[in-house]
Amino acid sequence: MDEATIRVGGEDRIDLPIIEGTEGEQALDIGNLRRDTGLVTLDRGYGNTAETVSAVTFIDGEEGILRYRGYPVDQLVRESSFLEAALLLDRGELPSRAELDRYEEEIGRHAALPDGIASVLESFPAGAHPMQKLAAAVILLRPYLPEAGDPTDTESARLGAVHLMAKTAALAAWSYRSGADRIYTEPRPDLGYAANFLNMMFNPGDGAYELNPAHIRAMEALLVLHADHGQNLSTSAVRLVGSSQADLFSAVSAGILGLSGPLHGGANQRVIEMLEAILADGGDTRRYLDRAKDRNDPFRLMGFGHRVYRNFDPRSDLIKHHARSLLHEQDDPLLDLALQLEQEALADDFFIRRRIYPNVDYYSGILYRALGFPSEQFTVLFAIGRLPGWLAQWREMISDPQVRIKRPRQIYTGYPRRDYIPIDKR
Ligand SMILES: CC(C)(COP(=O)(O)OP(=O)(O)OC[C@H]1O[C@@H](n2cnc3c(N)ncnc32)[C@H](O)[C@@H]1OP(=O)(O)O)[C@@H](O)C(=O)NCCC(=O)NCCS
Repeated sequence: MDEATIRVGGEDRIDLPIIEGTEGEQALDIGNLRRDTGLVTLDRGYGNTAETVSAVTFIDGEEGILRYRGYPVDQLVRESSFLEAALLLDRGELPSRAELDRYEEEIGRHAALPDGIASVLESFPAGAHPMQKLAAAVILLRPYLPEAGDPTDTESARLGAVHLMAKTAALAAWSYRSGADRIYTEPRPDLGYAANFLNMMFNPGDGAYELNPAHIRAMEALLVLHADHGQNLSTSAVRLVGSSQADLFSAVSAGILGLSGPLHGGANQRVIEMLEAILADGGDTRRYLDRAKDRNDPFRLMGFGHRVYRNFDPRSDLIKHHARSLLHEQDDPLLDLALQLEQEALADDFFIRRRIYPNVDYYSGILYRALGFPSEQFTVLFAIGRLPGWLAQWREMISDPQVRIKRPRQIYTGYPRRDYIPIDKR
């Protein structure tokens, strides 16, 4: 094992082991740093910190590489169904036909939602965001399924993951319809994952609804594309909460809430709102690019930039391809505007120097919109897609004998000790 030596103060030197991942990534293992030196590290936003080792997903931000369990994401988007990709993420290997059949059967068996869920969803005030409803609905499953999601019991943990894979799409669709038409279409797992979800979202129950095969393909591809992304914020939230041995439903709910923010999964909704605002304002993309570059203006180009990808986000190109092929016969002013804005930003020195490129959220909203989803629902689609990653990462964590409760340290910068002042003396 390689080592790095650091010198702390005068002549004290300590050796830190360097560990190496299978793709050559290297990390200083500082596990004994505080014990040996009294020092901790300060790393705002974790830009330099690997919190765990993980065998689930490999990302190389410099090269624009994303692989699930070693398989390039573009191959999986082309060849794999969402449930197959979920099983791959969970178990580490592509399933055999029989294994996939068994999994699909089990997911189908657990697809129905408990009685009473719809009325709870309807009790939310009008205007509640679908992500709030989804997080609450996932938590609500726990009392209905006390036998599932216990991290200290392997079978209960596995069963919890199956229930969440089986029920989350229905929870998402019913959350939406509880605020829309209050029609609750029962799950039809026999249709396939994406088709069943579209059916639950949009079937008005009048017998006239027909699923569009191009929409099913695009939906399935979008789900596979979002299925995991290493230790991003929402996955880290799942691991963080899960490290306290809270149940799986609580951990996933934390992931959903983490994903909802505009700098994470919430960006896809903001992209469409931004494009609509630019269009309504006359379509002057240059003015908005100038605003994004102005340090005194809070406006940012939503759907641009990424902590990890610094050359391109491979997911963005795949989504752009699907958006273009789905919309090739339609005139979509929003897609045209998005393409123009992208072109101008990529030629602009500000974005070139900071290596800011379109991310997964830039074109996904355009595609979701073309599939008929309202913009408030976009981040929910991201959540459904990301669920297999949360589950696989949670299961990896709870089976890791070295895992500890996560407890970052801090560098205190407040007042030194001082004495209490009675209220009449202040
Ligand atoms: C994704 C994001 C949060 C990454 O943040 P980060 O790694 O902390 O990067 P920073 O915010 O420090 O950005 C680095 C520089 O690029 C600028 N920048 C980054 N993204 C930008 C954007 N979308 N528009 C305008 N400027 C941007 C920052 O202002 C900063 O400029 P400075 O060096 O002059 O201060 C950030 O790029 C962002 O806010 N993007 C828009 C939201 C989005 O699309 N999120 C979805 C992510 S998948």
